[in-house]
Amino acid sequence: MKALIIAIDGPAAAGKGTLAVALAQHLGLPHLDTGLLYRAVGRLMLLEGRDCEGDDASDVAARLQPSDLKRDDLRLPEVDRAASLVAAQPAVRAALLQRQRDFAAAHGAVMDGRDIGTAVFPDADIKLFVTASAHARAVRRYQQYHGHDPSAAEISQLKAEIEARDHIDSARSVSPLKRAEDAILIETDDLTPDQVLARALDIVARHPKMTAENR
Ligand code: CDP
Repeated sequence: MKALIIAIDGPAAAGKGTLAVALAQHLGLPHLDTGLLYRAVGRLMLLEGRDCEGDDASDVAARLQPSDLKRDDLRLPEVDRAASLVAAQPAVRAALLQRQRDFAAAHGAVMDGRDIGTAVFPDADIKLFVTASAHARAVRRYQQYHGHDPSAAEISQLKAEIEARDHIDSARSVSPLKRAEDAILIETDDLTPDQVLARALDIVARHPKMTAENR
């Protein structure tokens, strides 16, 4: 496999993480969930009692260790919000940029996040923008966190939180969440994870780097 870089961007709980893991496994490529970088920065800021919105978090970003990304407390609701807030700080994004580029330098990668196709790898070989309605994303996130279906009230609360985070991610001045012009849109509302993977594999198979390899 030639070093292929696949960028997968999209809003919270759209299914990009699930797709990225499966795609990387199928293609034998390294995978980086870039959201974990921002989650780890947010988590460490909370542990240090600092304000994720008002305090500069770039020192935390600069000293992130690989073990910080393996913490088991990164996927909690308070960290969802903390991650979004530190991710809106330009100095934090700058501190994490080279680390993300280095990750893919040797062997290519599947990278998922918000700005991979627009800022981290604007020249990525393949760009996918994975999205779903806020309702579907709220249901999925609830099932992921609790293992069972939410009530109507729980859906509406989670939907409001997801929409608030979408707003912070899309409205920030630096590297906002947006679909790159050349990204292929995959709407996952009515697709199973296997169907999303099949669609992505089909897109990858038609890429010139892959067809040249199979000749
Ligand atoms: O899993 P989920 O989609 O909810 O979030 P995530 O991918 O773990 O990302 C957590 C937060 O980090 C997002 O809400 C963004 O604010 C931020 N993020 C970002 O700004 N840029 C990225 N490349 C990845 C995540």
